[in-house]
Amino acid sequence: MTETVLLVGGGGREHAIARALADDCALYACASNRNPGIRTLADGFEDVAETDADAVVAYATSVGADLAVIGPESALDAGVADALDDAGVYTFGPRAAEARLETDKAYQRRFMRESGIPGCPDFEVFDDMDAACEYIDASDGDLAVKPAGLTGGKGVKVIGDQVTPEEAKTYLRDAAYDRVVLEERLVGEEFTIQAFVANGEFRPTPAVQDHKRAYEGDEGPNTGGMGSYTDTGPALPFMDEGDYEAAVEVLAAVVDALPAYKGVLYGQFMLTADGPKVVEFNARFGDPEAMNTLPALETPFLDVLTAARDADPLPELAFSGQATVCKYAVPEGYPTDPDAGARIEVDEGSVGDALLFYASVDEREDGLYTTTSRAFAVVGLGDSIAAAEATAEEALAAAGDRVRVRHDIGTADLVERRIDHMNALRE
Ligand code: AMP
Ligand code: GLY
Repeated sequence: MTETVLLVGGGGREHAIARALADDCALYACASNRNPGIRTLADGFEDVAETDADAVVAYATSVGADLAVIGPESALDAGVADALDDAGVYTFGPRAAEARLETDKAYQRRFMRESGIPGCPDFEVFDDMDAACEYIDASDGDLAVKPAGLTGGKGVKVIGDQVTPEEAKTYLRDAAYDRVVLEERLVGEEFTIQAFVANGEFRPTPAVQDHKRAYEGDEGPNTGGMGSYTDTGPALPFMDEGDYEAAVEVLAAVVDALPAYKGVLYGQFMLTADGPKVVEFNARFGDPEAMNTLPALETPFLDVLTAARDADPLPELAFSGQATVCKYAVPEGYPTDPDAGARIEVDEGSVGDALLFYASVDEREDGLYTTTSRAFAVVGLGDSIAAAEATAEEALAAAGDRVRVRHDIGTADLVERRIDHMNALRE
């Protein structure tokens, strides 16, 4: 029987999900931007806001969807998984109550403390910004300042890294958030592990390293992520297998404590001198991380979805063993002052062996235009990170000159710096 699957979301992550599913099912997609990659792969594509639960359910019902996959956290936060589930469409994505793991950072830290999840930094939650500022004054170490709600990855300020204590206090007073988390600054190398979760079971995927800073050499403001890489095995070059296993244990503890969780559980970890600590959890695939993970996944992703829905054991995952390097092309000026509405050329024919994933582009009659967000990504696969990086770079010839790329992602130089950094911390 052919399954009919609805995909919610129109970014690069969702293009990668669409590519992983398109050959195995009847695929329909909805998003508020017209993603040309998803539109080409899907049997139907509807212009529906990801956060409009009623409209998403109406579209799912009209196409006869048996299954749904939600890409963005905004849809989870808006209760789209709840609405689809309640309408009889099994949704691989948590209900809003479990998605609070991502959508409410105060809940996330309290949940970790109360459930005894390993790797939780010291933290305090504040509803009063004056009290938060006093806490900064009284603290003898650096702190990370985190608004409790969703900020697209751009709301966190780390004292001693991006801001001084004074700047952090000005930020808190000016932004006037309802609630913030102040927590111990973690020092080390970041990595992501995503796991497929359903019915109390989970299947972890290889570790990925994203690059949040806008400019080469990890300079500049935080972004949604400029690109990412994986190695040929589950761990990354600056980690050992024990670090990977310790992080997987953290995800296992979350699944034990939240038996109703379903979908992708994304752990963002800081590998510190004392092992992996949790920077945050997300309730969905990472973007860009999905573009590394799904092309290397040999197990049909549809088999994961149907097993989850049917309460069958989740399949054991097989990966190709190829390293991957993903590089995003973003509008000039992104993220602070993005040049939206710039016409860009993407020559699909010159991508070669790499994969091309469209993200926030606007497809108009006369061509493709940038929005305020990341435009498209290329992913190289290879027998080593270096080979994958070279393939990704060749593909960037397709990018034209109205976009910006962090060419350093996945280069031997940057990977070596990560290894040296970890070695220095562990001495
Ligand atoms: P988040 O929105 O929680 O992913 O945070 C964005 C970025 O801020 C993370 O990717 C880290 O680079 C940084 N960050 C968050 N929490 C901490 C922390 N406790 N210590 C150091 N850096 C952090
Ligand atoms: N790459 C970071 C995120 O998806 O949140």
